[in-house]
Amino acid sequence: NVPMVLLNDGHALPQLGFGVWQIDNARAPEVVATAMNAGYRLIDTAANYGNEASVGVALRRMNLPRSQLYVTTKLRNEDHGYDRAMRAFDASAARLQLDVVDLYLIHWPCPQRAAYVETWRALIELQKQGRVRSIGVSNFAADHLECIIHETGVTPAVNQIELHPAFQQQMLRNIHERYGIVTQAWSPLGQGRALDDPRIRAIAERSSRTVAQVILRWHFETGSIAIPKSANAARMAENIDLFGFELTSNDHAVIAGLDRPDGRIGPDPAAYGQMRILRRLTRRFLT
Ligand code: A2P
Repeated sequence: NVPMVLLNDGHALPQLGFGVWQIDNARAPEVVATAMNAGYRLIDTAANYGNEASVGVALRRMNLPRSQLYVTTKLRNEDHGYDRAMRAFDASAARLQLDVVDLYLIHWPCPQRAAYVETWRALIELQKQGRVRSIGVSNFAADHLECIIHETGVTPAVNQIELHPAFQQQMLRNIHERYGIVTQAWSPLGQGRALDDPRIRAIAERSSRTVAQVILRWHFETGSIAIPKSANAARMAENIDLFGFELTSNDHAVIAGLDRPDGRIGPDPAAYGQMRILRRLTRRFLT
């Protein structure tokens, strides 16, 4: 059984989830069903992943009591702005076949479009209407967080960010703590790259656990909700079997030492919108 973590809006989420990024629509129903059979109850998708409909099919088939299921989806970059966000939510909820989504996130701030505050107002309204239980953001840097909190007075329940041993984002996590925002970790295993580290392997060997389990346990003990993904049933089961051992303070010190300034794998939220605009402009000039 996965322990629950309390959010700043009074709701709770399991402190481990299952991510379906890059799991294609055709395989998603089977993969999600396998994950749920392994015990995952928090399923993390996004409009941009293109598999909400299959996740919806899998959830229907499993037929668990709704109160035991926690479904996250995210608003695409193309859907920023108040009205667009409201429509985008309707479409996501319809694809998922859900009346209420447990957690709705703004996927990226896209600051250059200067619309993320308006988008955030739409999420606040959706929560007021009871269509979304908890609202949050993803890939928000400190200034984006401060901007929406200052403009609306509503603090996100969650910020889902890239987080793994080579990229620990300690400063941003301190800000989360100050505001009572729960950190969710995407690519908690560094997309598999963290699994080769000899220092984590040594901890794993001493604890008779796997490297993945040590890393996911580290996320858990540092208070984050990790969302590992795997398309393999044995690895899904391995990744949720974390609640019978503990890391020592020395293990934490060793893992803290693995943080690297160049450890980021995904895009930098501060540069993300600019890169996209640049690509679009280049395309326009080339065609
Ligand atoms: P696979 O789907 O074949 O299991 P992240 O969640 O950080 O993005 O990492 C996902 C990657 O790590 C996937 O390539 C996945 O491959 C792999 N992975 C997930 N869990 C484990 C595990 N327990 N052991 C080894 N590799 C894993």
